[in-house]
Amino acid sequence: MEHEATNATLLEREDLTDTLSIVRVRPDSGRVPEFHPGQFVRLGVPRGPAPQAGGRPGSRPGRIRYTRRAYSIASSPRVTEWMEFFVVLIEEGKLTPRLWDITPGGRLWMDAEAKGEFALEVAPAEADVVMVSTGTGVAPFMSMLRTYRGQNRWRRFVLINGVRVAADLGYRAELEQITREDPTVIYVPLATREPEGGSWTGLRGRVQTALEPATYQRLAGAPLDPAHCHVFLCGNPQMIDDVELLLGQRGFVTDSRTGRGNVHFERYW
Ligand SMILES: Cc1cc2nc3c(=O)[nH]c(=O)nc-3n(C[C@H](O)[C@H](O)[C@H](O)COP(=O)(O)OP(=O)(O)OC[C@H]3O[C@@H](n4cnc5c(N)ncnc54)[C@H](O)[C@@H]3O)c2cc1C
Ligand SMILES: NC(=O)c1ccc[n+]([C@@H]2O[C@H](COP(=O)([O-])OP(=O)(O)OC[C@H]3O[C@@H](n4cnc5c(N)ncnc54)[C@H](OP(=O)(O)O)[C@@H]3O)[C@@H](O)[C@H]2O)c1
Repeated sequence: MEHEATNATLLEREDLTDTLSIVRVRPDSGRVPEFHPGQFVRLGVPRGPAPQAGGRPGSRPGRIRYTRRAYSIASSPRVTEWMEFFVVLIEEGKLTPRLWDITPGGRLWMDAEAKGEFALEVAPAEADVVMVSTGTGVAPFMSMLRTYRGQNRWRRFVLINGVRVAADLGYRAELEQITREDPTVIYVPLATREPEGGSWTGLRGRVQTALEPATYQRLAGAPLDPAHCHVFLCGNPQMIDDVELLLGQRGFVTDSRTGRGNVHFERYW
């Protein structure tokens, strides 16, 4: 596994900001692995130049060592030629600075199998699904929305995305368009660091602001109530811990392997 050749090409990249990109990756096989919306694959970038003949004992020329990281798939499984990911650059990180060096046509490695148990299927079709994300954590919810919209898979799909500044809101135009077309989809973007008096007219504060009972009721048109809602949390692990605690105080139960709950999560680190 450690020495496989690159097996995929970076097809396209859309830069939202200097540190946020939507990237599309095409596997050499011509067909992406099967997956459920909510799952992830690992991407890998070579750690350095391939070791040369005469390198450390046992090394073979042309072998490649990779840094690999997990990425939620943002595209729908209906798209079979490529997968889309929404990635933030971590300046001091190992993988993302190297990903930013790859231009379209450049090579990388991608898992041949998708993984993960973060899936809409755990929620019954009559539930309100409440998707709470920070930053790039919006990605798996895009896959779910792109795949299941119009199929009566929820009563309401409430997508809450908390970012530092409005420019970090991934998929904003697509989401606003979807809400115009589909009254079951409610999009709630929030910004924590937009300057007062600037052009941002949306909600300010962390995602918890949108979960305050009166605010949530106003935005969603129904209460955030454990009898009718399943909450999915994705992104910053501190947000997940804090929101899990808050929801626990309101009667929600975290999903676990031992029993079915109505809070599900995917931690990014
Ligand atoms: C299941 C899963 C799905 C993931 N999906 C995505 C995704 O869709 N998009 C994405 O950008 N990342 C995603 N990640 C995170 C990703 O795997 C890497 O950790 C990230 O790209 C940083 O890699 P790095 O090697 O550059 O930095 P590292 O050396 O791994 O540095 C990690 C540090 O960067 C910060 N960090 C890592 N990821 C994020 C993030 N997404 N947003 C804010 N801060 C972060 C944290 O402080 C973390 O400790 C996911 C992680 C998991 C476990
Ligand atoms: N986004 C950028 O503009 C930017 C620019 C340069 C570098 N980076 C790099 O990217 C990394 C990730 O940045 P990011 O902004 O995508 O992700 P992030 O740090 O996870 O922040 C995303 C949003 O989550 C909020 N948040 C943090 N902790 C929370 C909690 N416990 N509960 C609820 N909400 C919480 C943040 O609010 P707060 O603002 O209150 O923390 C912010 O609104 C940074 O570590 C940095 O290295 C980002």
